[in-house]
Amino acid sequence: MSEAVRNTLVKLQAFIGLIGFAALTPLLILVAVLSRLIAKLCCCSAPKSIEGEVAVVTGAGHGLGRAIALELARKGCHIAVVDINVSGAENTVKQIQDIYRVRAKAYKANVTSHGELVELNTKVVEDLGPVTVLVNNAGVMLHRNMIDPDPVDVQLMIDVNLTSHFWTKLVFLPTMKALRRGFIVTISSLAGVFPLPYSTSYTTTKAGTLAHMRALRMEMALENQKDIHVTTVLPTFLRTNSDVTQLTDTMGVAELYPLVSGEEAAHRIVAGMLRGEAEITLPGLASLLYRLIQIFPADWQDRLILLLSSSRFKKLRDERS
Ligand SMILES: NC(=O)c1ccc[n+]([C@@H]2O[C@H](COP(=O)([O-])OP(=O)(O)OC[C@H]3O[C@@H](n4cnc5c(N)ncnc54)[C@H](O)[C@@H]3O)[C@@H](O)[C@H]2O)c1
Ligand SMILES: *[C@@H]1O[C@H](CO)[C@@H](O)[C@H](O)[C@H]1NC(C)=O
Ligand SMILES: *[C@@H]1O[C@H](CO)[C@@H](O)[C@H](O)[C@H]1NC(C)=O
Ligand SMILES: *[C@@H]1O[C@H](CO)[C@@H](O)[C@H](O)[C@H]1NC(C)=O
Repeated sequence: MSEAVRNTLVKLQAFIGLIGFAALTPLLILVAVLSRLIAKLCCCSAPKSIEGEVAVVTGAGHGLGRAIALELARKGCHIAVVDINVSGAENTVKQIQDIYRVRAKAYKANVTSHGELVELNTKVVEDLGPVTVLVNNAGVMLHRNMIDPDPVDVQLMIDVNLTSHFWTKLVFLPTMKALRRGFIVTISSLAGVFPLPYSTSYTTTKAGTLAHMRALRMEMALENQKDIHVTTVLPTFLRTNSDVTQLTDTMGVAELYPLVSGEEAAHRIVAGMLRGEAEITLPGLASLLYRLIQIFPADWQDRLILLLSSSRFKKLRDERS
């Protein structure tokens, strides 16, 4: 058989496969929705306990990271509070120790440095024990110049918000694999699925971490590591950071949906993590919107999002340039 004929047959086979999949899709959606409903009703997926485990929470010196550290401590987990800002980290440790009877310690580390994370792991294992919970939360939110950012700022954003996840995985995953259990929680953003104009580095890093965790989840399944859970969190705007609140005030975001508080977010994130959920959107309603909008062709998706938000983005651009 000639190569051309063979290629045509393979393409035909792929096409028929796709048609079959499209025909089955309504049935698959029904099964997925039903199994989700049944799981909710019978609590099939009971939350796991993390009492006595050790968690590393990056960027835990402020905002969402601090709230997650406190929530994990409430569940009886010992906490390594990691931040580049030592006084912020120590402040979080104090808050934990005021309320909970777990061990907590502050560590200074820059998540963009693989070397610093290797050192961090050595110290945490010595002080608290092997790490089985990793929360990738550290991030820089906004460029000083939003509309026309400095190349150095763009690179920093990518280093902190995208590259660092490779370093934390390299450093902390081997122990989890050896112990055959663990939780990895990565804070992405709804911006990873609903792109934000004039925040392309943010949008890019968030879409990147989302895809990274998807591939990692598949690797864990292929390696039969069913007790290593990988959870990606896609929050809308949070009330944790004053720069963000300023931005959302400019854009009138709260008229579309109220901002979520750090405590509310942390509660939902830790509950979902303990149930082994793959993706958590905040608010939950956004997960439906994100799925519905994917059905449209790309140009229609752009148009639909702009229909809702173009005046807000124009206002933002005019104010910040
Ligand atoms: N605030 C929002 O509206 C919002 C929305 C969606 C997603 N998120 C995500 O949630 C996460 C937390 O947001 P937040 O509002 O609490 O942020 P925040 O700015 O309040 O806190 C971030 C913390 O990370 C630390 N940090 C920054 N760079 C670091 C580095 N290189 N190494 C170690 N630590 C570092 C900072 O010192 C700070 O304590 C971020 O990943 C952010 O992208 C936030
Ligand atoms: C570090 O954290 C402290 C305490 O939370 C805060 O007052 C300070 O502004 C932070 N410094 C930086 C550079 O973010
Ligand atoms: C963290 O590392 C990055 C990249 O190496 C660097 O640009 C940044 O200034 C560092 N941050 C701190 C607070 O040391
Ligand atoms: C970087 O990550 C932090 C923490 O996840 C997030 O708050 C911030 O919005 C991110 N910024 C960008 C530009 O991706």
